[in-house]
Amino acid sequence: MTTFIEQLARMAEQNFVDFSVTPSHPRRLVPAHIQSLTPYLPGRPPWQLQKELGIDHFINLASNENPLGPPESALRAMTRAFPEVNRYPESGGLLLRESLAEHYRVKLNNVVIGSGSESIMANIIRAFLHGDDEVLTSEGTFIGLYVLVHAHGVALKMVPLKNYRFDLEAMACAITDKTKIIYLCNPNNPTGTIFTREEFDAFIAKVPEHVLVILDEAYHEFTMGLPEFPDSMSYRYDNVLTLRTFSKVYGMAGLRLGYGLGHDYLIGFVNRIKLPFEPNSLAQAAGLAALADTDFLERSLKNNLIGRSMLADEFSRLGLRYVPSHTNFIMVDFGSKQKVAALHQELLKQGIAIRPLHAFGLPHCLRVTVGLPAENEALINAMYRLVD
Ligand SMILES: Cc1ncc(COP(=O)(O)O)c(C=O)c1O
Repeated sequence: MTTFIEQLARMAEQNFVDFSVTPSHPRRLVPAHIQSLTPYLPGRPPWQLQKELGIDHFINLASNENPLGPPESALRAMTRAFPEVNRYPESGGLLLRESLAEHYRVKLNNVVIGSGSESIMANIIRAFLHGDDEVLTSEGTFIGLYVLVHAHGVALKMVPLKNYRFDLEAMACAITDKTKIIYLCNPNNPTGTIFTREEFDAFIAKVPEHVLVILDEAYHEFTMGLPEFPDSMSYRYDNVLTLRTFSKVYGMAGLRLGYGLGHDYLIGFVNRIKLPFEPNSLAQAAGLAALADTDFLERSLKNNLIGRSMLADEFSRLGLRYVPSHTNFIMVDFGSKQKVAALHQELLKQGIAIRPLHAFGLPHCLRVTVGLPAENEALINAMYRLVD
């Protein structure tokens, strides 16, 4: 006797539809700004590279992930939450929002959570941008923002970096009547640099009140209380929305969990247009546990500090031009895209992935994520063999 599943499989085989013979041309359905969109290409998954290269292990230092893995406390919280996944998540994620509000000493209505900080960024763009509005940012920053703005069909204006840093003075001069959103990333991905409290104060004084500033602080924990870092939670500006994430120091990139903080009037609209059931219930449970897990936070920061200074010392010994970093990665400037491509390929053959930065507009640079001590050592050993 055939099972229901087998019957379904046979029906699917018989009714296979080849979409390429659809008579009307689907291209006309797609607006020009979507047709010309360059997608964000994350690194290839390790299993794919392992298969291609015929190797059985892989060191992934390409995506600024936490090499320690997720916190045990988050794993336990998800196990406890799992029997309830037949239910929809608590809409709005009240418990996690309350916990974040308490953590930052703000009101519940100042907090939005989403499936990654990038999802919140997408909702901010959907909520506030239309028509002739322009977004202003820097070259050499988070490409996810570029893709979201282009996908929305509005203009993106970019100011060059200055010494690998956001040039806030030049950005202030580039504000026009059309500027609606300014995106700042501090510390910046992929350069690892910060702008200081003093520089931010001088900049924000020149930003009109009706212009929204997105302050992306995905890596802020790694600055470890540096006094000159303008931690946005020590400020209260009505037109600044801060974005933070559980993907980096909390080791939960695959769960997709981030949050936004800001004026309740603006946060209210972001909450209104977000998909009602994001983030999922396991991510919400894990986030609550991770936020309380100060031991894990400390271990992550310690591993990062030790690994980052070891990598920086070795890059100096190798005579490489690296940019001192306030994050969990370091950018190295090789001066030529050929050198970058060659090193990237050679390291891949040895089972080590790092990130070439052509998509960020920095084709002469590579970005290396801080790994576990043995991973950092393997990278440095390989570089001693490969770099002349
Ligand atoms: C600067 C910056 N912002 C946002 C993100 C996205 O974070 P999330 O995983 O919370 O969407 C990243 C991810 O690499 C990032 O580097």
